[in-house]
Amino acid sequence: MRAKIAVLPGDGIGPEVTAEAVKVLSAVAERYGHRFDYEYGLVGGVAIDERGTALPDETMDICRRSDAILLGAVGGPKWDDPRSTVRPEQALFGLRKGFGLFANLRPVKLFPVLKSASTLKEDVIDGVDMIVVRELTGGLYFGKPSKRYEDNGTRRAVDTLKYSEEEVRRVVRVAFELARQRRHKVTSVDKQNVLATSRLWREVATEVSREFPDVEFEHMLVDACAMHLIRHPKWFDVIVMENLFGDILSDESSMLAGSMGMLPSASLGYERGHPKAVVNRGGSSLRMGMYEPSHGSAPKYAGLNVTNPIATILSGALLLRYSLGLIQEAAAVESAVESVLADGYRTYDIAEPGKTEIGTSQMGSLVAERV
Ligand code: IPM
Ligand code: MN
Repeated sequence: MRAKIAVLPGDGIGPEVTAEAVKVLSAVAERYGHRFDYEYGLVGGVAIDERGTALPDETMDICRRSDAILLGAVGGPKWDDPRSTVRPEQALFGLRKGFGLFANLRPVKLFPVLKSASTLKEDVIDGVDMIVVRELTGGLYFGKPSKRYEDNGTRRAVDTLKYSEEEVRRVVRVAFELARQRRHKVTSVDKQNVLATSRLWREVATEVSREFPDVEFEHMLVDACAMHLIRHPKWFDVIVMENLFGDILSDESSMLAGSMGMLPSASLGYERGHPKAVVNRGGSSLRMGMYEPSHGSAPKYAGLNVTNPIATILSGALLLRYSLGLIQEAAAVESAVESVLADGYRTYDIAEPGKTEIGTSQMGSLVAERV
């Protein structure tokens, strides 16, 4: 097949890790007879420096012309001034909202060879295999008003938590569809004992669950979920929740897999052909998606060739699976990663005595050779 991929390396370690993911995708193309064309765009702090905005129009145009977006990371101390009106993170919000990428999937799977790399006990995490589905275009991240103001000489600030039933329904459906391809269990996370939005969430999630009688369904309060995630992580298959809860719990869950450096993510919108799909290139039911590591730009490691590129490489596998429908190729990337780890190769974040410590580009090349 022929596909077009927008590559947005961004800041910090972003360029290094995306280069390794592109290396692996190109190896896949060669091995399986596909052609991937890459178009590079500016995003984040580098875009602020060169264009005065975190998400230039030309970058949006590149993405619109593409079948999927591969993103590195954005942000860094250089652009951290809290009073600044342009911030690198705005690029993420613009891309998420602009392409209607409402479902953020963060698979948390422990590679058995990394059991001892986690700070948690091996028997607790052995066999962990779950997906966090985070709502990505609503909630506190986008609710208005969101501002700081002064009233009677007192500094105040407000953020708004708002959800419509449609926003809840579509993301909960994605969670159920995923569960059907896995262990058939969905946990919906909320704070219904306190929040009105959570009571709506619970009501709508329950309605959706009736469309999927073959999937086991439970509700869990977010505070209890934070506890169960490290107590009995093996209970979970697919967990779905609103934007901020998902931001927090996905970082917590990442520790089950040993390192943030191992965690990919996919942000998906409506299926192509759906009346609300922002990008609609033909009849297939694949989704436009943005793929990026779950970690940040780690500025202090930038340019040192030490960062673990596996999160971005595995994000490339998700790109193959969800936006291009190349299931076998996606699995080939995942097994290549597994095989490189099994042979004892490690970047510093998952280093262990007796294993071979290697750099970013070596890790990318080893995986690329084995797809
Ligand atoms: C993430 C990140 C972003 C978020 C930040 C960088 C704005 O933490 O993708 O999880 O909060 O969504
Ligand atoms: Mn986060």
